[in-house]
Amino acid sequence: MEIQNNQYITGKDMGDVCPVFRRIFSLAGALTEARLEITSLGVYEANINGKRVGQFVLAPGWTVYEQRLQVQSYDVTALLEENNEIRVTVGKGWFRSPMPGWIDSEDKKQRYARPAGLIAVLILTYADGRVEKIGTDESWEVGESPVRFSEIYDGERYDASFQTKDWEKAQILSWDKQILIPQEGEEIREAERFAAKEVFRTPAGELVVDFGQEVTGYVELSLSAHSGDRVRFDHGEVLDQDGNFYNENYRGAKATAEYICKEGAQSWHPTLTFFGFRYIRLLEYPGEATAENFTAIAVHSDLKRTGFIHTGNAQVNQLLSNVIWSQLDNFLDVPTDCPQRDERLGWTGDAQVFVKAASLNFDVERFFQKWLKDLAADQRPNGEVGQVIPDYIPGGEGSAAWGDAAVICPWQIYQTYGDLEVLRDQFESMKGWVDFIGTVTTTPNLWTDHFHFGDWLGLDAPEGSYKGSSREDYIASAFYAYSTSLVVKAGKLLGKDIRPYEALYDRIVAVFRKTYPTCNTQTEYVLAVQFQLAQDPRACADALAEMIWKDGCQLRTGFVGTPYLLHVLTRYGHEDLAWKLFLRTEYPSWLYPVTKGATTIWEHWDGIREDGSFWSKDMNSFNHYAYGSVADWLYEQAAGITHGEDAAGFSSVIYEPHPCKELGWMDTRLETRQGTIRSYWCVKEDVVQLVLETPVPSKAVLPSGVKDLEAGCYTYYEIYKCL
Ligand code: BGC
Repeated sequence: MEIQNNQYITGKDMGDVCPVFRRIFSLAGALTEARLEITSLGVYEANINGKRVGQFVLAPGWTVYEQRLQVQSYDVTALLEENNEIRVTVGKGWFRSPMPGWIDSEDKKQRYARPAGLIAVLILTYADGRVEKIGTDESWEVGESPVRFSEIYDGERYDASFQTKDWEKAQILSWDKQILIPQEGEEIREAERFAAKEVFRTPAGELVVDFGQEVTGYVELSLSAHSGDRVRFDHGEVLDQDGNFYNENYRGAKATAEYICKEGAQSWHPTLTFFGFRYIRLLEYPGEATAENFTAIAVHSDLKRTGFIHTGNAQVNQLLSNVIWSQLDNFLDVPTDCPQRDERLGWTGDAQVFVKAASLNFDVERFFQKWLKDLAADQRPNGEVGQVIPDYIPGGEGSAAWGDAAVICPWQIYQTYGDLEVLRDQFESMKGWVDFIGTVTTTPNLWTDHFHFGDWLGLDAPEGSYKGSSREDYIASAFYAYSTSLVVKAGKLLGKDIRPYEALYDRIVAVFRKTYPTCNTQTEYVLAVQFQLAQDPRACADALAEMIWKDGCQLRTGFVGTPYLLHVLTRYGHEDLAWKLFLRTEYPSWLYPVTKGATTIWEHWDGIREDGSFWSKDMNSFNHYAYGSVADWLYEQAAGITHGEDAAGFSSVIYEPHPCKELGWMDTRLETRQGTIRSYWCVKEDVVQLVLETPVPSKAVLPSGVKDLEAGCYTYYEIYKCL
């Protein structure tokens, strides 16, 4: 990259105001190509002659900035004229915002005291072969921009009547250039647009705009106004019991946008921050607001959709839409827990829980490869993986099922896409996590006496606790076994000597079985079966099913048990119970939030209670993808599209559908690296029709009574079965 040969620049401290850097220059002849290499300390928007450079919103994205700062390279040939001005506005972004909201650590103070900085070079190639480079240095100028305030949690204030006048010479900023790396992740882009559905007055008398869908992004205003008029609004996800605007669950995040108008017709949206919202509340607005004045713009990593499921049930289809939206809303360069409250952090546990569904819904290979490199970069010297990546909670201890993201995510990305590169890149990090456990446990071959999040938000939690009743040491030891087994598998594929890990795995399983001969909770049963720790997995799955029936056919699992619950039941012949749990509409269930109008996946099974009240104002996001992990059960078990571990990337398919009469039909399409696989089933009266279209060899494990048709390449099953 050419950019390293240039200097970082900054300006004087402007407090809340975002600086804008500029350089005026003329071309010295006809151009063949102009390329801009650029990045910033903060997030930037670059314009040349008033036109936006590229489509990357919130560039340069979020990485472990101390070690890795992505550089973007744009072809800007078409933007240049004879005389030119480049302007770059730099907002606080993730680099300098006071994150996380609820912690007041030294580390955080240091981060938000950092300077705004820019480094860039424009490389002009002329028709006569000459090359001219215009890089950031003291010839650039800096001034206050119309963005008077911008940060991640609190929002943005823009004064359209403000003209930058007092330009000063930029100052050279001494900052590490070793951290500069070429762009690795997907670009964040503006995507779907939602016209306002309704502007209405709530019982409390407030003016609220509804966009009909919860998105991450921002609202674009279009209005005619006078200079100095003001628009101000905050954001919310849901209405309260009485139909009033509500955003107490944003906690410390003010999530407010403010726009000071210029004269005449105009349009604006924030550019250096984002919000998670379905509603906005108009705190100030000049004149009468109508739906035409507002459009919500969804902003997320530019991911290709690969998984499509349609069924005969409108509520299930809405649930699937909610899964897709919670993924898009939380895949903003980093897999985050939620997009609205004073967190929006790369919680490792959430990513681990959802990675399989995520990788089937969308092509997230590159997205995870980049984030996993950040995970490895922030891994502590003893192998410990923090709670969030980038690690903005450096004091936070690594927890089972959270830190295991270091192992489970690379393994899943390999399984879905079949390229060993991610395992090669992450192998040391994977091993490091498993080694770390061995150094902190108080019982060899188990993981005991450490801080953990437990079965987070499990419904069997004791009153007042966020942690379900499953034993923390049990969960931790089970994940210790599982992660060790994955290190062994990855190591074998990479040709490493993994004998010590094989031996460790055998010891963990032996000690685990001795220490935990019985299970106390649904999640404990689920893990024993899923991780093959139970002596007799079938008996264990049967006991789980019995426990659920006894519990009134209700799930009690939290973040740890839920993703595997239906898999375990289905795999051991309890698919009827799995479908019953899946299709249930009363609380607790996946469909209950749908009956309450959810357009994204809720963090809590009863985020909104039957009577419309909230379970809490504290830990109550309506856009948390963790429970959306149920989508991977739909692809794998319901539609029956899966593959053996030795057929990573769907080089062959194991077809094992579990049709459900109550659902009626299900049509699933999965675009894999090998081509499109489609599974369709339909149950009408007593006849089941099964269809599999696959470009790769397949092996069918069909429901009993269905004859196994010839399996092979380019298979097309059309099977009729009498129930
Ligand atoms: C986050 C979760 C996260 C958890 C840790 C919460 O505040 O929103 O999704 O995994 O903390 O238990």
